[in-house]
Amino acid sequence: MADRLSINDNRTGNKHELTLSYGTHVNAGSAISAKDLREIKTSDQDFGVLVHDPGFMNTSACKSSITFIDGEAGILLYRGYPIEELASKSTYLEVAYLLLHGELPNESQLDIWTTDITNHTFLNEKIKKFLDGFRYDAHPMGILVSALASLSTFYPKSRNVQDEEIRARSIRRLIAKIPTLAAFAYRYSVGLPYAYPDNDLSYSGNFLNMMFRATETKYNPDPVLEKTLDVLLILHADHEQNCSTSAMRAVGSSDADPYVSVSAATAGLYGPLHGGANERVLEMLSEIGTVKNIGAYIEKVKQGEFRLMGFGHRVYKNFDPRAKILKNLAEQVFEVTGRNELLDIAVELENVALNDDYFVKRKLYPNVDFYSGIIYQAMGIPVEMFPVLFAIGRTSGWLSHWEEMRRDPELRIARPRQMYTGYPKRDYLKIDARQ
Ligand code: CMC
Repeated sequence: MADRLSINDNRTGNKHELTLSYGTHVNAGSAISAKDLREIKTSDQDFGVLVHDPGFMNTSACKSSITFIDGEAGILLYRGYPIEELASKSTYLEVAYLLLHGELPNESQLDIWTTDITNHTFLNEKIKKFLDGFRYDAHPMGILVSALASLSTFYPKSRNVQDEEIRARSIRRLIAKIPTLAAFAYRYSVGLPYAYPDNDLSYSGNFLNMMFRATETKYNPDPVLEKTLDVLLILHADHEQNCSTSAMRAVGSSDADPYVSVSAATAGLYGPLHGGANERVLEMLSEIGTVKNIGAYIEKVKQGEFRLMGFGHRVYKNFDPRAKILKNLAEQVFEVTGRNELLDIAVELENVALNDDYFVKRKLYPNVDFYSGIIYQAMGIPVEMFPVLFAIGRTSGWLSHWEEMRRDPELRIARPRQMYTGYPKRDYLKIDARQ
């Protein structure tokens, strides 16, 4: 469907007709081509109209058929399937396949896919020497960002990003190896010997094995915790054009290989406003310490002293469907691990905030990070590993966007424009004339 939008330029009296294109969902919006705005100018010398959009609040950077979010209605779909159904009925590896290939795998496709991933879980032994260079207290997210980039040097053929088969192999390798790298980063940071992958276990079960195996010859993950981790990975797997995915696309658009691109995306995720938020939620809940202190804490948030971590979202303005799933999941996990006071503080904090005008007016609701940290902690996962787990889940999403971008006939190197607000051309000042 193509439609047109008319713009009257009051400066020149000219009328411009711009073509509109539409997304495939009723609430996907319509878009004009920003390049068409360049035709709106006052003279031949005029550069034309630019779209000024700091933080990309309303800019479509690509066409994508992977994930759809309706922020007002609290809807999240992966390839059309509601997140609630995928979280309750699928496994993470099935969802990763769905994101990458567009359809859920049938039984034999899933068998091949699972075998392919499982066959790539081991790391080159030299990676261990690389890890040895880090300080004893290195944050595992810093280790992960660097170790992911280093994989690029082990697989130089991956630079051939035009080759579909090489891309597919890199994708399988990355999804398979990131849990191993992540677990190694953790074990290094606490001085424990590395635990190697156990390819008899599920994707999530194997991760728990690499994190927690001690002297036992065979690690048997708790089935509830294994399932919980799998659901968490599903919920984190994709979220359309967020900060880290945009980093993946921006870096990948220069034809950089997928290892350094995933490393850049992981760096984007590290920040406390993105994947680092779940770490901060736990710090916040510990700082609040008891339900009695919630009122005073909320007052400080309203005074602008700091933000309520795990609250608010650029896109969700009603509720985050992932947070709803996690709130229920938290109750199930606590039945196995025993109740933790932090959950009581979180539930009460949510109640207080949702009934407070400050949060209601600004449409601030709990996001995915509000409950995920409490669950991870109950599972015995250390706080610094929270963003790392987010990165493991999001890797399939990043790679789906990368593959989609590589096949996109509209692909161009990412190169935004700016509104220049500096000096016009001026004469050079000799040093003795400078103030
Ligand atoms: N606590 C208190 N006030 C807030 C919060 C918060 N968590 N989030 C936004 N606000 C206020 C903000 O001060 C502003 O108020 P005012 O209009 O009076 O200036 C208004 O709400 C709009 O905020 P904004 O910063 O313009 O919103 P944004 O869309 O740019 O930021 C956000 C979105 C997620 C970065 C922000 O809500 C935030 O910093 N939240 C806390 C960090 C967090 O939980 N991040 C995880 C996001 S979900 C996981 C992921 O996808 O990465």
